[in-house]
Amino acid sequence: MNNEPHEPVTVVGLGRMGQALAGAFLKAGHPTTVWNRTASKADQLVAEGALLAPTVGDALKAGSLAIICVTDYEAMRELLGASDVDLAGTMLVNLTSGDSAQARETAHWAEQRGARYLDGAIMAVPPAIGTSEAVILHSGSRSDFETHRSTLDALGTLTYLGADHGLASLYDVAGLAMMWSILNAWLQGTAMLRTAGVDAATYAPFAQQIAAGVATWLPGYAEQIDNGSFPAEVSALETDARAMAHLIEESEAVGVNAELPRLLKAMADRSIAAGHGGEQYPVLIEEFSKPRND
Ligand SMILES: NC(=O)c1ccc[n+]([C@@H]2O[C@H](COP(=O)([O-])OP(=O)(O)OC[C@H]3O[C@@H](n4cnc5c(N)ncnc54)[C@H](OP(=O)(O)O)[C@@H]3O)[C@@H](O)[C@H]2O)c1
Repeated sequence: MNNEPHEPVTVVGLGRMGQALAGAFLKAGHPTTVWNRTASKADQLVAEGALLAPTVGDALKAGSLAIICVTDYEAMRELLGASDVDLAGTMLVNLTSGDSAQARETAHWAEQRGARYLDGAIMAVPPAIGTSEAVILHSGSRSDFETHRSTLDALGTLTYLGADHGLASLYDVAGLAMMWSILNAWLQGTAMLRTAGVDAATYAPFAQQIAAGVATWLPGYAEQIDNGSFPAEVSALETDARAMAHLIEESEAVGVNAELPRLLKAMADRSIAAGHGGEQYPVLIEEFSKPRND
């Protein structure tokens, strides 16, 4: 049995997510102090045992770990940058969503004010907080993360990504890119199949099987990318490009949207024009790695 006293925590920002975070700390037995601009959003948490601080500054002083989760980094900086807020000595974990540059800048900003700072990203919806389904990413000092890990564990499944404060935000959007790409590919197929009377539910298990199969290719393809060498072990990019042309033709023939297939083929065509047609698919990393704004 663990007889360690529960670390006192502060949660600033009690929107949908902040309320779930504070609720999970309370449920895990942590003395929890809360603050929100609209104080009434603390009512339920106070009924469950949270302490409502009169000011943000008081809230930060109450816990040895302070979580902030507000709309965006601008709101966070406005709130914690107020002249009556003293960040010195605060261990701040910012679970507000933003981009990697904002995370790095805010780490510097907080550290200049004497705070320790971990950035984080929540890949979950509020009802999942406090369960293993809630994936929560952290970046910043490893020792700060390890010091507070057992407290942060109350929120979900934690992943520490590294010292660069921008990593949590980068992984967050990389995960979203994966999610939307899989969903869009499935929707493309579903739209085509529905023209032949196949409903979405019939196609879903087949699509799931394809997605799971393709996922097993990633480690081998990652090795090619990291080595910068793309031998066509199973297929050449020009073979894929011919299949992409079929996908465009089929989409047009059955009268569904062909924008996504055309985008895929345009990228492959540029790579082939650059001389990579005989190499394997992940050579497209070169197209993905440069900006294109048109
Ligand atoms: N909800 C989700 O499913 C989800 C999932 C992953 C990540 N997130 C991230 O979690 C963060 C919070 O999301 P949410 O769903 O909790 O949003 P929300 O319900 O809209 O709550 C926003 C919170 O920010 C506060 N706030 C906004 N501007 C402020 C300012 N200038 N000064 C002080 N407080 C300010 C609000 O205070 P008031 O109550 O006074 O308005 C409220 O506590 C966002 O960065 C979001 O991207 C959310």
